Amino acid sequence: MSTKPIGIFDSGVGGTSIWNELHLRLPHENTIYLADSKNSPYGTKTQQEIIQLSIKNTEHLMSKGCKLIVVACNTATTNSIKILREKFPIPFIGIEPAIKPAALNTKTKAIGILATRGTLSSELFHQAADLYSRHIQVIEQEGEGIVQLIESGKLNSSEMTGLLKLYLQPMIKANIDYLVLGCTHYPYLLPQLLELLPEQVKIIDSGEAVAKQTELILKENNLLNSSMTKGKWQFNTNASTEVITTLLGGNHDISYLDF
Ligand code: SIN
Repeated sequence: MSTKPIGIFDSGVGGTSIWNELHLRLPHENTIYLADSKNSPYGTKTQQEIIQLSIKNTEHLMSKGCKLIVVACNTATTNSIKILREKFPIPFIGIEPAIKPAALNTKTKAIGILATRGTLSSELFHQAADLYSRHIQVIEQEGEGIVQLIESGKLNSSEMTGLLKLYLQPMIKANIDYLVLGCTHYPYLLPQLLELLPEQVKIIDSGEAVAKQTELILKENNLLNSSMTKGKWQFNTNASTEVITTLLGGNHDISYLDF
């Protein structure tokens, strides 16, 4: 049993889509969320830069006494989780695009993956793609510009609709029946994606699987918070608090922090 907080970090506000699933599954856990929006997006950075930023975020969360860290960013996971696990003595949960369920269940033998350049070019992503997609067509698409629009509060804008139409077109042409969201910012696009995609296309993200895995690892390490009171949820951003406040809704403890 441990009342220490779970740390969560992302290149910005997108990882709150993971926090949404985590707090539903583990409502008694205390959490500290770090939105590194000042350095967003990670997806266009070099692997070395992504590693350095991930270490900086982890050191901050470790200094707050976190018992486990969720790397709520596909780009940071695929590029740095191995090093974080080697360097720090606590468990890490990462987010990888959910290629496996899409590849195993596709009927049209074509699936789409929307992710950042950093994720699509990573070794971890290539290993998963090679393993599960031998007999199917995988349409990989870099979501260039999407994270920047979300971070600047333009989730529902004509620029966003324009980008999505452009990126989905080759997938629709290839008759995909699964779209894998390979970036934690993208679940916030669900209403637009549902409108733009043909009805038979199922959209998969990793949120629920990550929450389940976090619970399992906490149990295995005897780190679950067995208190019956609602957890304390703290959100820190090193940019304006406006976008994260709008995305989270409700009344949350959100503050600016120069980390
Ligand atoms: C980014 O910062 O470019 C996107 C974050 C992600 O890959 O989840």
